[in-house]
This record gives sequence, C-alpha cells and structure tokens, in this order.
Amino acid sequence: MHIAVIPGDGIGIEVIREAVQALEAVSRASGLSLKLDSCDYGAERFLRTGETLPAADMERLKGYDAILLGALGDPRIPDMKHAADILLGLRFGLDLYVNYRPVRLLDERLCPLKGRRASDVNFVVFRENTEGLYVGVGGNFKKGTADEIAVQEDINTRKGVERIIRHAFQFAASRSLKRVVMSDKSNVLTFGHDLWQRVFRAVSAEYPAIEARHLYVDALAMQMVKDPSQFQVIVTCNMFGDIITDLGAQLQGGLGMAASGNIHPGRVSLFEPVHGSAPKYAGQDVANPLGAILTAALMLEHLGRLEEARRIESAVVACIRAGSTPRELGGALGTHAVGEAVAREILAPSKAA
Ligand code: IPM
Ligand code: MN
Repeated sequence: MHIAVIPGDGIGIEVIREAVQALEAVSRASGLSLKLDSCDYGAERFLRTGETLPAADMERLKGYDAILLGALGDPRIPDMKHAADILLGLRFGLDLYVNYRPVRLLDERLCPLKGRRASDVNFVVFRENTEGLYVGVGGNFKKGTADEIAVQEDINTRKGVERIIRHAFQFAASRSLKRVVMSDKSNVLTFGHDLWQRVFRAVSAEYPAIEARHLYVDALAMQMVKDPSQFQVIVTCNMFGDIITDLGAQLQGGLGMAASGNIHPGRVSLFEPVHGSAPKYAGQDVANPLGAILTAALMLEHLGRLEEARRIESAVVACIRAGSTPRELGGALGTHAVGEAVAREILAPSKAA
C-alpha cells in the first residue's frame, strides 16, 4: 500500500509521527506491506518558497492508495492562506465529498456526560465536504468603510446534496443500521436547506426499512448532549458538520480523540484527525496522538484492511484502560510515549485487550 503522508504544521507533525509508528508496527505484526512517502506541504514550505500545493502535486497524489494528513495552521500565516490552499484544495480538488467522522466512546471514563456507558456514544456523522459556506463565493463592497457589505454565499447543489445523503443511507444499509438523521436549518435557510429537505425525502423513500428523521441543527446539538445513544447516522451540510463534530469529539473524550476521513468512494481519499495544529501546544510533546492513530486505523479500514484496523483500535483501547494516556485524558505520558505504548501493544497485545 502506497500512502502519502502530510504531517503539516504544529502538533500535526508530532501526532503523525506516532500514527506512522502505529502503521509500521501493524505492518510488522501482520505482514501488510506499506510504503509511506512524506510530503512537506505546510507553513514552513510556504514561508520559504511561497508554494502551497503545486498543481502537478495534486495530480501525483491521485496515484496513491490514500493520503494521511496531520493538521494545517500556523500563527505566522494569520489568514490561513496555505491551510485553505492545501486542506480545502485537496477536499475540493480531489472531490472528497464525504467527510466521515465517527463519534465513538472507547472507554466510559473519557465521556464528559454523567452516567454514559461506552455503548451510549456510537454514531457517525457524514458531513458534506465540497460545498456550502466553504466554497468561498462572495465578496466585499465598500470594504473598510462604515458602509461595508460582506456577502458569503451558501452553495447547495442538487447533485452535491443528493450524493452525501445517498451515501449516508447506503452506509446505514450496509451496516444494518436502522436510523438516519438529517440536520439542517430549513426553518430559516428557506432556499438552500429546503433543497436538503426535498432531497432527503426523495432518497429516504428508497430506504423504507430505515427510519428517516429530521432535526434542526440547534435541536441536534442539544440532543447530542441530552441523549447521544439515540443516534446512529447523522448527515448534514459542511458548516454544521464542522461544528457538531467538535461537539462529537468531546463526547469521545476530547478533540484529540476524533478521527476522520475525507472520502470519494473509489478514488484516492484523505484521512486526518479532527483537531487542528494547536500552535499553543506545538513542539512540547503534550498533544494527544490517539486521534491521529485512530485515523490511521480508519484509513486501513477504508482500504479494506479490517483486521489491521481492529488491531490498532484494540491497542488504543488497551492503552486507555491501562492508563497509558496523555494529559488530555488525565494520564501522564507525552505524545511520543503514548505512541510507543500503542506500538508495543500492537506488536504484543496484552491479555486485557
Ligand atoms: C476541520 C477544520 C477545517 C474545517 C478548517 C481547518 C478549515 O476545522 O477539518 O474540521 O473547517 O473544515
Ligand atoms: Mn473543524
């Protein structure tokens, strides 16, 4: 398997090092052959050369089996231009329309909600990933004056809405899941999200065995905290998906625990932890690498290597149970030590796992 690895900026570099260590361990344990090519897109290269993601590289990346990315963002580039070019550039350029963000509590001790067991928090969010408020359509008029007007358009296409909703139902059907929630704000966004309503009704009619429910996004946020066990599959637009998956990350124990895939079924796809580059914590060996390690597992699962993916996940669960955790999870280990503990567990699973 040929993987392009983009550590990126800040803690992205530290957590990807540990994700790579986990991949190397599972490769040694299972015989899976992995070739990892490191790519230096990120703040350093941008500041040095002005380059973000050269067009030829975008083409080259299409030849890989998958892309593993850390995080992008650097205080020296306050407008985040390089991050937008690279991360959003890859999402749009490779047409990665499915942002797949599982919300799974691996150990009940990590949940901030009272009395919730691990099985109570286990759902997936499908976030539309190629349109909505993220496309950058809009502009300013009389910028910098007292009469300034700023317009940011919310782009919803029939094709784009339909393919993500359809993907959510196909996923539910393939895993024998019984419930899909579509979340929007159609009571206010009466054009764009009315389209979501109509498409949801049409697609859900093709899946009579699956309960199709609608929740406005404000109610969804409330319900995710009140009773997360009611959810199996949630599908929503780009912006709302961004927001509710940070909330979902906390339900799993923190932003450092959450994994994601940016997917175009059948094409090269990109996997990244949900968290950002966290410049405040960069270079201090304090970041939680488990989200990045679980992201590597998600990538293997996507590539059809279920056994290897499970092996990484089990190792993470075992480390959490044994208290081999970073500060974010109440442990005492640094980023690298957590990575080492997971790698050891992958190579020689302890009985408890
Ligand atoms: C995410 C991030 C990105 C997003 C940022 C870095 C552009 O928050 O992947 O959730 O908003 O999609
Ligand atoms: Mn986000």
